[in-house]
Amino acid sequence: MSDRVIDLRSDTVTRPSAPMRRAMAEAEVGDDVLDGDPTTRRLEQRVAELLGKEAALFFPSGIQANQTGVWLHVERGTELILEAGAHLLNYESAAIAGLSGAQVRPVTAPDGVLTAELVAQAWRPVSAHEPRICAVAAENTHNAAGGRVTPVDVWDELTALVADRGVPLHLDGARLWNAAVAQGVSPARLAEGATTVMVCLSKGLGCPVGSCLAGPADLMERAVTIRCRLGGGMRQSGILAAAGLYALEHNLSRLEEDHANARLLAERLEGHEVVRPLEPDTNIVMLDLVGATAEAALARLADAGVLLLPFGPTRLRAVAHLDVSRDDMIRAAETIARVLNS
Ligand SMILES: Cc1ncc(COP(=O)(O)O)c(C=O)c1O
Repeated sequence: MSDRVIDLRSDTVTRPSAPMRRAMAEAEVGDDVLDGDPTTRRLEQRVAELLGKEAALFFPSGIQANQTGVWLHVERGTELILEAGAHLLNYESAAIAGLSGAQVRPVTAPDGVLTAELVAQAWRPVSAHEPRICAVAAENTHNAAGGRVTPVDVWDELTALVADRGVPLHLDGARLWNAAVAQGVSPARLAEGATTVMVCLSKGLGCPVGSCLAGPADLMERAVTIRCRLGGGMRQSGILAAAGLYALEHNLSRLEEDHANARLLAERLEGHEVVRPLEPDTNIVMLDLVGATAEAALARLADAGVLLLPFGPTRLRAVAHLDVSRDDMIRAAETIARVLNS
C-alpha cells in the first residue's frame, strides 16, 4: 500500500500534467500588454463561447477577476447584495470596501443558494437615506457551503428578479464547471442572465494559474483598464493560457470522476461516530465532527498522511480533484475513519 500523502485540502493543489506542460512550452506568444498574445486571445474566445458571452478577459487570479467584475458594476457609496458565506465577502481581504468602495449587504441563504425571494426581501426602497442597491452577486458552486449547486430553476428566478430591478448580476463561478457537470447542463446555461461571470482554470481543471471574466464586449474593454490598475496585465501570458486551453479540452468532462470520488468519501464515512459527512453536490465534502475539534483532528490526520482544511471549529473540508484517484479516496476514507475513531 502506498504511503504517499493524500492532499484533499483544495482542488487548487493539482500540479500541471506532462501534456499540459508540453502545451505550455509550445505556446505561441506575444506581449499581451503591448500588442497582444495570440494564445491568450484564443483562450478568451473559447471561454466567452463556453459561457455564452460576447467577450472574456484572462486574469492571473479568481480574486482579481471577481473584484474587477464587482468594480464594473458598483460605485463608491452604493450597496451590493450577496450571500453571507460568499467568497467575495469572506476570503478576498475586504477588497470590495478597499477597492471599489461599495458596501456589502450579506443575506443568509440555506446552503449558500441565493434566491429571488431572499434578494427581494433585502431590497431597499428608493430613499435619500438608505443605500442605493447597485448590483447583486451570486456564487455557483458555493465553496463555503460545501460545493453547493444552484439549481437551474432557482437561478432563473433570481436572474429574472435582478433584471426586473434593473441592476447587473455578477456570478462568481470559480467552480461553475462543476455546477454544469453536476446538473448535466452547459456552463453557458448557468451563466445565462448574469451580466459578468468569473471562472477559474486553476481549480478543478488543473491549471497552475488563471481565471477569466466574461461579459459584454464594452464591459470587458473597461475591465482591461481595471485589470491594469490592479497590476494584472501579463506579458507572454500565452504560456499560461495554453494550460487553460489544454484543460478545457481534456479536463472538463472528467470532473464527474471528482464528484464520484466525493460521493464515495461521504458514503464510506456514513454512520461514523465522530465524523458526519454532509452529502456532496459536487467535488467538496464538508465533514462535521462530534466530540472532536477541527484543529486536533487535522493534526492527527496529517500525521497519518491525509491533509484537509478546517472550515469552522468542528468542521473539516475535503476536496476531490484531478490528482486524487478512486483508490486514493478509498485510502483517505479508511484513514479518516480509523484515526478519528478514538
Ligand atoms: C468561490 C471562489 N471564488 C473565488 C476564488 C478566488 O480564486 P483565486 O484563489 O484564484 O484568487 C475562490 C478560491 O478558492 C473560490 O473558491
